[in-house]
Amino acid sequence: MKKRVGFYTYNYVEPLLESIESIGLGTGSTIKFFIDKLISDGVLAGLKVAVSSIDTLLYLSRRGVTATPPGYIEHLDLYVDGFDEVSSRLDIVKGRGGALHWEKQLALIADRRIYIGDYTKYNGKPYLYLKPIPIEVSPPSLSYVLKSLSALGKPVLRMGRRKDGPIITDTGNYIVDLYTSKVHDAEEMNRMIKEINGVVETGLFPRKLVDTVIITTPHGVVRVYGETS
Ligand code: 5RP
Repeated sequence: MKKRVGFYTYNYVEPLLESIESIGLGTGSTIKFFIDKLISDGVLAGLKVAVSSIDTLLYLSRRGVTATPPGYIEHLDLYVDGFDEVSSRLDIVKGRGGALHWEKQLALIADRRIYIGDYTKYNGKPYLYLKPIPIEVSPPSLSYVLKSLSALGKPVLRMGRRKDGPIITDTGNYIVDLYTSKVHDAEEMNRMIKEINGVVETGLFPRKLVDTVIITTPHGVVRVYGETS
């Protein structure tokens, strides 16, 4: 399904590719199928490419594509990324891969944002509830942030696998996963979390950062939500 949605997305954006100059590429297993198509069709050679993680940077550089991290590019014509949960209102949770800070930055500078995934990630409700909210936290603020987040739910410091201690993000921070009840207002929740000193970014991508969501169903059909629905 990930492959199907990646290839479908390539066909979906193909008409746009001739008129754009820059593209941002997200992180995760789904987006890699989209990236593979861009590379095999030789599309990236003519574009400025920005990446949302070291993982995607490495993936591209091993295939001969040069890209820039966020912070060194002001604007993107298009941003395409995966996601972890989407509500029927098209609020999104991202950050399973710990790349949420760079991902949000690219979404913020893009004219058009497309998120792709399989049907298990579409929750069918007008609120978010399936996934914890990943939050990137500056290390010196960890205890303060954990204590402050307890008012909103159960915060859990994300630990490494095959590394002792917490995982470290591409910007040198920690990730805290916040287990909370239904999030009806993603924008307000995002604002409340970001008000806590030491919070760098959250994995909540409210509707205003989402233009299009492309989802595969188990029957092979691909559904498009957002501007065309
Ligand atoms: C990484 C992300 C990913 O885009 C999201 O977790 C989807 O990953 P996958 O396509 O592997 O399911 O937000 O921080």
